[in-house]
Amino acid sequence: IYRKAASPPLSTFVLLGPSGAGKTAFLSLVESSSLYKAKTPSHSTHTSQTSTSTTVTLPPSVPIFSNRYRSVNDPSLPDAKRNAVKYVLRDTPGHGKLRSAQLTQLQTELSSKSKKEASSICGIIFFVDAASLVEGAENLRDYAGYLYDILLVLQKIVLSKGKLSKKAGTNFPILVAANKQDLFTALPPGSVKQKLESEIDRIRQTRQKGLLDASANPEHDEDGEEVLGGDGDKFTFHGLEDDIGVKVDVVGGFAKAENEKDGVSATGIRKWEEWIGSCL
Ligand code: GTP
Ligand code: MG
Repeated sequence: IYRKAASPPLSTFVLLGPSGAGKTAFLSLVESSSLYKAKTPSHSTHTSQTSTSTTVTLPPSVPIFSNRYRSVNDPSLPDAKRNAVKYVLRDTPGHGKLRSAQLTQLQTELSSKSKKEASSICGIIFFVDAASLVEGAENLRDYAGYLYDILLVLQKIVLSKGKLSKKAGTNFPILVAANKQDLFTALPPGSVKQKLESEIDRIRQTRQKGLLDASANPEHDEDGEEVLGGDGDKFTFHGLEDDIGVKVDVVGGFAKAENEKDGVSATGIRKWEEWIGSCL
C-alpha cells in the first residue's frame, strides 16, 4: 500500500561527556524500553572504547515538536507502533585520550557545507556525573574542559558557516544531563549549571591570557586559535545562545534503573526524553 520513498536519515543525538558519567547506561535504558528491540544484548556499562549508533524510539506518551498540536486522544493517530518516533543515539567513549577523535568527527560532520552530505546530527547530550562534583575541583575542571572544547568546535562552525541548527528559526540544542540524581550526594541541576558556567569562564580567561602572551611573541603563529565567546562579559549559557545560537539546557535525571526486580524503570530519564522530543 505504501510506496517507499527514500526516507531522510533519522535524527541523531550524540552522547558526549566524561567517562563514567552514564552515557551507556542511558542508552541501555532507552533501548530496553524501545519498541525496536536490538538483536544484540544490551550494552554493558564498561568503559566504552568505540562509538556506536543505535536506533531507538521515543515512548508514545512523549510529545514531539513537529506534532505538538495533536492531542494524544486524536483518533486519526495510527496505533502506537506505527506512530513511534525513531531516532538514533550515538554513544561515544568519554576517556580523555579518546576525546579529540570525538571532537574531530563532530567538526567534520557538522561543518559539511553541501546539502546532500548535511549532517543528521540534531543535537548533543552532554552527560555529567552530578554526584562526583562534590569531591573537589578536579572533576569540574575536567568536565568543563570537555564541554568548552565542544562549544569551541560549534563556535568555529558557526563563524565559518553561519548557522548550525537544522530547523529555521531555532538554535542548535545541547542538553547537559546532570546524571545520578538518585544519589543523595548529587548536586541539583541548577548548581551543576552554575559550576560549569563559572569554570568555563575561568578556562576562557586562561586561554585568552595565553593567546595574548603568545601574540607578544613575534614567532607565534595565531592561525586557528580562538577563545570561546565574545570578550568582556562573564561566560553564561544564555550569552552563548545570543552569540552563536547554541542553546544549552541543564536537566537532572538518573540513568540507572534502581528497582531492578520491578523491571526497568525509565522515570529518571523522562525529562531527557521530553527534551529529545522537543527537538524532533
Ligand atoms: P564511558 O563509556 O567510560 O565514557 O562511561 P559512560 O558515560 O558510558 O558511563 P556508564 O554508562 O558506563 O556508567 C558508569 C557507571 O555509572 C556504571 O557503573 C553505571 O551503572 C553507573 N551509573 C550510570 N548512571 C547512573 C545513575 O543515574 N545513578 C547511579 N547511581 N549510577 C549510575
Ligand atoms: Mg560508555
